[in-house]
Order: sequence, then structure tokens, then C-alpha cells
Amino acid sequence: MPRVRCASTPAGCATQWHTHDPHRPGAAADRITAPSPSSEITPEDAAAFGVGDQQLARLTGAGGEYRARVRLTKGQRRGEAFVPMHWTDRFTGAARTGGLLAAHLDPISGQPEAKHGAVSLAPLAVGWEATLLIAPGEAGDFAGRDDGAYWARIPLAHCQRWQLAGGETDDSPRDWLAWARQWLPTAPSLWSDDPAGGRLRAAGLENGRLRWWLMVAPPAELPGLSWLDARFAEATLEGDVRRRLLAGCDAGEADAGPLVCSCHQVGQTTIVEAIRAGDASVEALGARLACGTQCGSCIPELKSLVEEHAPDTVDAGADAQALDSTTQEESGHARSEQAKIPVRVA
Ligand code: FES
Repeated sequence: MPRVRCASTPAGCATQWHTHDPHRPGAAADRITAPSPSSEITPEDAAAFGVGDQQLARLTGAGGEYRARVRLTKGQRRGEAFVPMHWTDRFTGAARTGGLLAAHLDPISGQPEAKHGAVSLAPLAVGWEATLLIAPGEAGDFAGRDDGAYWARIPLAHCQRWQLAGGETDDSPRDWLAWARQWLPTAPSLWSDDPAGGRLRAAGLENGRLRWWLMVAPPAELPGLSWLDARFAEATLEGDVRRRLLAGCDAGEADAGPLVCSCHQVGQTTIVEAIRAGDASVEALGARLACGTQCGSCIPELKSLVEEHAPDTVDAGADAQALDSTTQEESGHARSEQAKIPVRVA
């Protein structure tokens, strides 16, 4: 089996440091705002290993396994896979870089060197994927997380987000409403399902307050999660807001994409659109959107987006494909239109 060299950095990826407080003891886990555990590789390596952009994959190294979502990038070197540090067992089932590579101790200082090693890469076979948002206090140790091949917990401002996947060996569709009744704090209050297609959206409310929201479908079908996240902070949901819960957005709402610049609250979709309109440098983006003009921690990601999406560096077809894949990334921000399947209310 072909192998690539794996590299992780001591600082993780930029989105893990957006509190601007990299030295607060014990706070690293709280800072994880990255969409999910990931592995960045070139499109050429992805083709060689048989994995696609945003597909779940398993990396296997001398220390064990790392399960993550593949992200294709032209900024990575061929033959190398980047994986971010700081995902711990509290936040994911199998994405600790310390568990992937063998640790070599410096004979004098005793410091471990665990940032480079050879790994193999293969698709992670799953039969279903789901996104669960659950209210604080209900979610600390969500027991249903281990009912599959992959899980990751991502703290949002007002709820906890769980990415779940599994079902490689399931030979019959799962009854997701029964699953929700078993694992979630309140019974489903409204839902929209397509059993034949294996899709479901559902939400649970208690005294008018949102307690959980579930989508069973590939993450590419997620709406923007900031609108839903804000609903968890409301004492009661009524009228139009309640009716829009399964869609996950206000009617006609534009989606800025996952946050890239936290200082100025600028999202990836907004940035990619600006690049494609001609602002194809970090300076031009700063002048138009202000991103990258304060702490600067988002500048590496801005450079990467410029490299990937600038009109003169990619052909139109590839660029359209890349934009499509980034706007559907797992971080929850893509399509505001819900699948047209019947809605049921309990
Ligand atoms: S995150 Fe601080 S300038 Fe972008």
C-alpha cells in the first residue's frame, strides 16, 4: 500500500486559536472551532489513495489510527498529509495525532518528537452520516456518540455540535426517530423524513425551547449552523422561527460560510466570492472585507484560499468544483434549501 509522510504542527490550524489566547492553561480544547478533525492532502495524492474531498478517511501510522475528513488543497506538498493537533479523546473518537505516530523521545530532554511519520490512507466506509446539535447541559457526554465508526464534538456558542457516522455493516435502514427517543433528552417534536433515501431532519423542543436538532444526511447538505446555534439561546420559539427550524435558516438568508476571520467575522464563502471577483491577494481582501487586518492569525488561511480560488491560478471548471466543495464543507454552511420531503409534527 502506498504511504505518505504525515506532518502535524505544534500550533494546530489557525481556526483552533481564535480566542487569541494561546497560553491560557488547559484551554486548548475550548478553542476548537475547526470544522472537524481533518487531513489535508493534494488532489493528486487523494486520487492515488482513492479518497475524495470531504470524504471520511482513516490514516494508519506506527502509533495507531486517525479518523478524519479529507480536505484537498493545493497548498500541501505532494506525498505529505497534514493533520492538526489538539483534537483529544474528549472531542473525537480517533483523531489524536499522538495516537497516530510513534513518539520518539529526545534522549537528553525527554521531549517527544511526534510530528512526522509515515502513514497509509484509505477511505473510511460508512453507511450514514449525521449532524446533531444539542443544548448545553444535555450534551457533555452524549452516550450515542459511540454508536458508529466516527464522531467529533465541536462546541458552538450556544450548543454542542456532534458529527456522527457509521453503518458500514448495517444491512437495513436505521429507525432514526427510535434512535432519537433512545438517546436524546426529549422526544422528537417535529421531523421531516425520507426513509427510502435514508434522510431525516428532526428537532426536539421542551416548553417551547429548542433542546436538539438532528440531520441524517451527508454534511454537504447542512444549512448554515449559526442561525440554528442562535435558536438554542432563545427561551421559547414560536411562529415562523419554529416553522423554519428544519430548514435551519431564515427564508432568503445569505450564508457567509464557515468563519475564517474571527476578528472581523468574515466567512469563507464571502472570501471566496471576493477572490473570484478579483480581490486575489491578502491585501485586497483586507481592503474589501477587513479580514486579516487585526491579529493576523487568519492570514495563512486567506493565502490558501487565494491560492486555491484566484481566477488566474485555476481553470474555471476546477474553480467551480472547488467552490462547490468548500461551500459544502462539514462546518455547516452550505445549502439553505431543505430537501423537499414531507414534514411531520408531533
Ligand atoms: S482572525 Fe484576526 S485578523 Fe483575522
